[in-house]
Amino acid sequence: MAASKKLLVGVPAEIYPDEKRVAATPQTILKLKKLGFDVIVESGAGLSINCPDAEYQEAGAEIAADAKALWQAADVVVKVRPPEEKEVELLSEGGALVGFVWPGQNRDIVDKLAKKNATVFAMDSVPRITRAQKMDVLSAMANIAGYRAVVEAAAHFPRFFTGQITAAGKIDPAKMLVIGAGVAGLSAIGAAKGLGAIVRAFDPRSATKDQVASMGAEFLELDIKEEGEGKGGYAKQMSDDFLKAEMALFASQAMQVDIIITTALIPGKPAPKLITQGMVESMKPGSVIVDLAAEQGGNCVQTEPGKVVHHKGVTIIGYTDLPSRMASMSSQLYGACVTAFLEELTLAPKAETRPVGSVSGKDGSEPPVRMLNIDLENEVIRGAIVLDNGKMLWPPPVKEMPAPPEPGAGAKTAAHVVKTASAGHGSEEGSGLNPLVLVGLGILLLLIGFYVPDSKLSHFTVFMLAVFVGFQVVWNVKPALHTPLMSVTNAISGIILVGGMLQLSGNLNTTTILGAIAVLIATINIAGGFLVTNRMLAMFRK
Ligand code: NAI
Repeated sequence: MAASKKLLVGVPAEIYPDEKRVAATPQTILKLKKLGFDVIVESGAGLSINCPDAEYQEAGAEIAADAKALWQAADVVVKVRPPEEKEVELLSEGGALVGFVWPGQNRDIVDKLAKKNATVFAMDSVPRITRAQKMDVLSAMANIAGYRAVVEAAAHFPRFFTGQITAAGKIDPAKMLVIGAGVAGLSAIGAAKGLGAIVRAFDPRSATKDQVASMGAEFLELDIKEEGEGKGGYAKQMSDDFLKAEMALFASQAMQVDIIITTALIPGKPAPKLITQGMVESMKPGSVIVDLAAEQGGNCVQTEPGKVVHHKGVTIIGYTDLPSRMASMSSQLYGACVTAFLEELTLAPKAETRPVGSVSGKDGSEPPVRMLNIDLENEVIRGAIVLDNGKMLWPPPVKEMPAPPEPGAGAKTAAHVVKTASAGHGSEEGSGLNPLVLVGLGILLLLIGFYVPDSKLSHFTVFMLAVFVGFQVVWNVKPALHTPLMSVTNAISGIILVGGMLQLSGNLNTTTILGAIAVLIATINIAGGFLVTNRMLAMFRK
């Protein structure tokens, strides 16, 4: 059987001025080949990351002489920057494109792509869900940007970051304020702490408090109470009162700190203006502000996107290409995310009904021949797709998030849990709170009370209470608290283990058999609990 043609992934050179990243490196091409793709790279595309054509060829890629040849040959073009008009012209009719698109900001380009019946996926729109972390280019790039922001600050700051006591005198450590403790902010905290600075951070999302503390920085708090967490873990737009209060905090911090790194952003909104001219002027001469939100207008009024400006002795850095300034690492991480996305994009929804492709080796040793499979049921693909054969599919429909429980809604939650548990047996009418079920249960308990011998009645009461308390305790625990719950269940399993062992002496009868079963199950529970806890702890160990 002749092997089917493999999907050809094209990697052009980026044409955006000063963009040094490239959408694939020799390492990511090795992975793509292993997954069953063919790859073609534009000649010279990797020169900015010190990868000559020969290295790409060694990894198994073909080399296209120029951009035209590349765009015409490729089945799917993978890029970093949103396509320029010139690139849209090069894309073949009905071609496919994967890369940063920012469809909200680049409507003109998207319209032009639609006219070419293109199929387009925006890496910037991949939903930030756990399963899609390996495709999360925003986090991968923000992590690099946060680190690089500290490096840029250090390059412009006229002092050490770390404090020193030398024969010539004492040098105080630099003080840094990080505004916005998202991916970039946390990365900046890590880098600055590593260089020895004293770091403080602020974020309206209370969930970031522990993250900031775990990086060794001080979390600044406001008197005003307003939760900043919105849908999907992102920040929400804060009230005017909150913004006023946080700006008062920044005004007092600006007089104390030497460096401000600001990353505050609410997706899809212009960056909030948090650092005023007055604050800039109140900073000590030589101070530095790095504004990562420069591309969205900047958090500092003085920021000029893409530039370094000086105002009354303070340097304000508004670079919008921080990841490109560490191009080989950014390309590697970006390429890995794109590879994972291409793998997702070529999965068959159900292997038996829609195979990905034929397997050419008899023993299945060859990788499958992959085809684009636009599965709109797949939330990663649905989130990222912008155009399907020219048809506009962006933005994706908003998914209903379960409403957060109201304060004091414990009873409601319990009712919901009982409902869910019984849902498999019929309608919600049959829930645990259905009066008929409650009356039935009451009668059953009464009958048991009449017929069970007195000697066993107290055991039975304890058993019923244990079942009730256990159910309430376990089912009402939020998933985030499952780890501490595991310690509690381990302790309970310990009690069961001891109880079971006490029943094991004497002849073989129902009691000893039940005792043995209790010992076995409790042992499995304890051993499994330790195993899972250990694995989770390993994720936090360096
Ligand atoms: P993120 O969404 O993970 O973090 C943004 C943080 O800002 C969130 O924690 C949010 O709670 C916080 N925030 C929102 N409103 C705030 C307010 N009023 N006050 C204080 N904090 C507030 O975003 P990520 O991925 O960390 O990116 C941060 C910024 O860096 C974005 O503006 C992004 O576009 C930018 N970026 C810049 C690059 C560059 O080269 N300059 C490269 C990559 C990202």
